[in-house]
Amino acid sequence: PAPVVTIDGPSGSGKGTIAKLLADKLGFSLLDSGALYRLTALAALNAGAHLEDELAVAKIAANLDIRFAIAGGEVSAVLAGEDVSRDIRMERVSMAASKVAALPAVREALLQRQRDFRALPGLVADGRDMGTTVFPDAPVKVFLTASAEERARRRFDQLQGRGVSVSLRDLLEDIRARDDRDMNRAASPLAPAEDAVVLDSTDIDIDGVLQKVLELVQK
Ligand code: CDP
Repeated sequence: PAPVVTIDGPSGSGKGTIAKLLADKLGFSLLDSGALYRLTALAALNAGAHLEDELAVAKIAANLDIRFAIAGGEVSAVLAGEDVSRDIRMERVSMAASKVAALPAVREALLQRQRDFRALPGLVADGRDMGTTVFPDAPVKVFLTASAEERARRRFDQLQGRGVSVSLRDLLEDIRARDDRDMNRAASPLAPAEDAVVLDSTDIDIDGVLQKVLELVQK
């Protein structure tokens, strides 16, 4: 089977950025599993489904009509023929994604779809449970963390750069709420795989983290 590098970790740890840079560098495909939960959430909101209705949301997840298109180095998410890349990053969709991700039947419905991303010459898979549940046989597993304060600060800088005004305190609260939900849910709670290498990026920049991950891949 094609090799997989899994990059798991909490919200704002920088795993999305690292996964993308690593996939580019290695010429591997990229799976942004969070986008699948976001797309499920958006489709459920659009359909007017109750987010607690596990079977209804799981059915939506199983029948998602999605594709990822690449244009100018950017990946866009297409839901039922419509580019929803911006919509799935909206705050209400982020919150809804975190809720639907807690439903075991939804996770089950998305499992095979995620595994289908595996292709030669290899895959970089970004998420929460890539190393534990989706690709337990992956030869390289990374668990990327950073303190909640640092993750909130990074998100703050990112949003400020885009001209969005937010408070650092709200972002920190938001990050803590998401951590709490991710770690305390019954289905695939956020935790490093036994054979994952844990990298704390609190005091390392993106380049430094990328170097460390490349070393692991080349071992
Ligand atoms: O990292 P961030 O919270 O910004 O978002 P994301 O990685 O796009 O993930 C969106 C939501 O999906 C999060 O709330 C996670 O709880 C959930 N998720 C998950 O449960 N399992 C994954 N493999 C990926 C994301």
